[in-house]
Amino acid sequence: MGKLYTFDHPLIQHKLTFIRDENTGTKEFRELVEEVAMLMAYEITRDLPLQETIVKTPVAEAKTKVIAGKKLGLVPILRAGLGMVDGILKLIPAAKVGHIGLYRDPESLQPVEYYIKLPTDVEERELIVIDPMLATGGSAVAAIEFLKKRKVKNIKLMCLIAAPEGIAAVQNAHPDVEIYAAAVDEKLNDHGYIIPGLGDAGDRLFGTK
Ligand code: PRP
Ligand code: URA
Repeated sequence: MGKLYTFDHPLIQHKLTFIRDENTGTKEFRELVEEVAMLMAYEITRDLPLQETIVKTPVAEAKTKVIAGKKLGLVPILRAGLGMVDGILKLIPAAKVGHIGLYRDPESLQPVEYYIKLPTDVEERELIVIDPMLATGGSAVAAIEFLKKRKVKNIKLMCLIAAPEGIAAVQNAHPDVEIYAAAVDEKLNDHGYIIPGLGDAGDRLFGTK
């Protein structure tokens, strides 16, 4: 079963409180989502392999280390995943970015695909699928399925808030995929919204509604 990692860093928990707050406006919401994504990326990249190198300082040579050229890719699920991309790119600027467009049909809650564009060498990359909300898990399961059809082997899923139902769905469908969440909430309501959650992530990010 894919491991679930949660984040207890005080800065992440503090910022998440204001992301959840219904009084937080679009500008601040966007900034906070970006900041939390950056902080989460710092933790997620903890195990990136290093290689030794030598650099000349103004006074001597230093035996030091750099990241060992791992090919990374970010795949935000549109729309709301876009809100996390820039924060992660601040720490991993060389990562390539693919996009998967899915929306949940409001009646069936099933994901509907409308746009896909991935880096041409996607199968050689370690990918982080990004979406602030893991609710029923339908969107994440479908996005990961699509990537696996494109022969991607190494996939992580990163979200701000996960519901137990969504975690179980991803773990059942994709037991090889590690899940990173800033918080795990209580449950889903009858409309598939995470309780207490933060509301509709796309609408709050883009000011629609
Ligand atoms: C939201 C969210 C996820 C999905 C999660 O997107 O950003 O992609 O719902 O729900 P699930 O786990 O039940 O699939 P939405 O469908 O509202 O589209 P949007 O990002 O375009 O607003
Ligand atoms: N999508 C959202 O944006 N919010 C939820 O709570 C569930 C799905």
